[in-house]
Amino acid sequence: NVKPEVKWLGTPISELKRMPTCGRELPPLKDIPGRLHHRNTVIETDLLQDGRVPVPFPAKFMDTWDDVHVKMPCSSSNLFPIVDEVIVHISIDSIKNAILKYNASHAKKWDFTALNLYCTKVNIINIWYDSCSPIPLLKAGTNQSITMSQEQVACLLANAFFCTFPRRNSRKTEYCNYPDINFFRLFEGSSSKKIEKLKTLMCYFKSVTEEKPTGLVTFTRRSLDKPVDWKSSQTELTKLHITCEGTIEDDGCGMLQVDFANKFVGGGVTGTGLVQEEIRFLINPELIVSRLFTEVLGHNECLIITGTQQYSKYTGYAQTYKWAGSHQDTTPRDDWQRKCTEIVAIDALQFRNFLEQFQPEKINRELNKAYCGFARPEEQSQNLAAVATGNWGCGVFGGDARLKALLQMLAAAEAGRDVAYFTFGDSQLMTDVHNMHAFLTQRKISVGKVYDLLRQYYNSVCKSCLSRRPDVSLYSFIYQQVGSSLAPNDSDSDSARH
Ligand code: AR6
Repeated sequence: NVKPEVKWLGTPISELKRMPTCGRELPPLKDIPGRLHHRNTVIETDLLQDGRVPVPFPAKFMDTWDDVHVKMPCSSSNLFPIVDEVIVHISIDSIKNAILKYNASHAKKWDFTALNLYCTKVNIINIWYDSCSPIPLLKAGTNQSITMSQEQVACLLANAFFCTFPRRNSRKTEYCNYPDINFFRLFEGSSSKKIEKLKTLMCYFKSVTEEKPTGLVTFTRRSLDKPVDWKSSQTELTKLHITCEGTIEDDGCGMLQVDFANKFVGGGVTGTGLVQEEIRFLINPELIVSRLFTEVLGHNECLIITGTQQYSKYTGYAQTYKWAGSHQDTTPRDDWQRKCTEIVAIDALQFRNFLEQFQPEKINRELNKAYCGFARPEEQSQNLAAVATGNWGCGVFGGDARLKALLQMLAAAEAGRDVAYFTFGDSQLMTDVHNMHAFLTQRKISVGKVYDLLRQYYNSVCKSCLSRRPDVSLYSFIYQQVGSSLAPNDSDSDSARH
């Protein structure tokens, strides 16, 4: 019953807010109250200028080896040999000389550009060694930000590529609650997925070595300070644009873009995973550096990454994913020289049993997780961009898209944001979610009331259900309940008023 020519429903996407237009002016980076941000900023903010590579702060490497900072490859406490010289001298010169020894007649003709690119990459490591301040770990339960230059991110990622981060190659270290950062799993096996991943990352390294990126990136860990009283919320739903075409990253430019995350951010990006989160981390590889310092996310936590750049295009998805060449990212930069791309990593729960997700405590968890990602209590609603999202938790994690769409609409409403929802080709889902949103908004049904309906659905349909799937779908139940409870009263009060 869906007309194939209908590609979107609800509010036109042009009416939803985007950064930088909707945002307020940012305070100067160096004037952040309490200087907390400045303390964690590893660039010299006074020297921040348009289109210039930011100057790292402090100018000399500070050696720290403790449990609140990232243990760096260049630390004197690192027991493993420092590899920069090894790589520079063995990999570049010796390889080149060895090749040319056997092929002396070709010495003038042969091109070693690619090899030299690797050499440049190694030089990135050296730059980092000379100038880096300790990187704090974003530990569980803390609210902390790290801002660094894209160039410094590139240095860190070059280290990750060469697997030089100490104590990060086994799960049995003090980093057992952190994602893998060294890329060793990316080099194993012979699957074509790995080749496509490598092509995507090589495109990034090539780009940043040919031309140093000049911006900054901020990583913010946030936990929900006070839990929302969902039941009492009088908030009404915000606007919804829903489409079966397009993607979060292409069409949600300037919106708050949801990363369908793993609690270990980046999920399987350095291993075998290749779905929404991993693809995003590959095309915007600066996201990968979050794995260096972000401890596993708790139920009430999220990670917000502002300023990453897209370096690659892709086609396909999962098994059919292909690198499709380099991408020129034209997203404007904010006053802190960050690309206006804000991505929020929120990890849904994984469900193996369909009915489980309707349990009240699971619903609370997902609502609070989404709200933690969407809410910006320090901002006015009018300055908040729409949330660009889709089937969060409904692919690998097995959730029900109709439930998750509703939960995300509740969380976005409570956070004061509109929603752009990408159904990833599913036009039936587009129609169903649109109809539900229209039904609820026309009747001015509050977040609290919808929450109550979810409770009722669990109690009267799911709890007693003996089969794998409920007999009545969530949306039919809501239509029935609201229809039977509100319709007669509504018409009564209407006629009484007139
Ligand atoms: N834009 C909009 N929708 C998309 C996009 C996109 N670019 N890509 C995919 N979808 P999934 P999950 C839709 O399975 O279930 C990773 O390994 C598409 O309909 O990535 O939350 C993480 O690290 C897809 O089926 O998210 C976690 O470990 C759906 O979004 C785990 O997967 C869900 O995408 C999270 O799994």
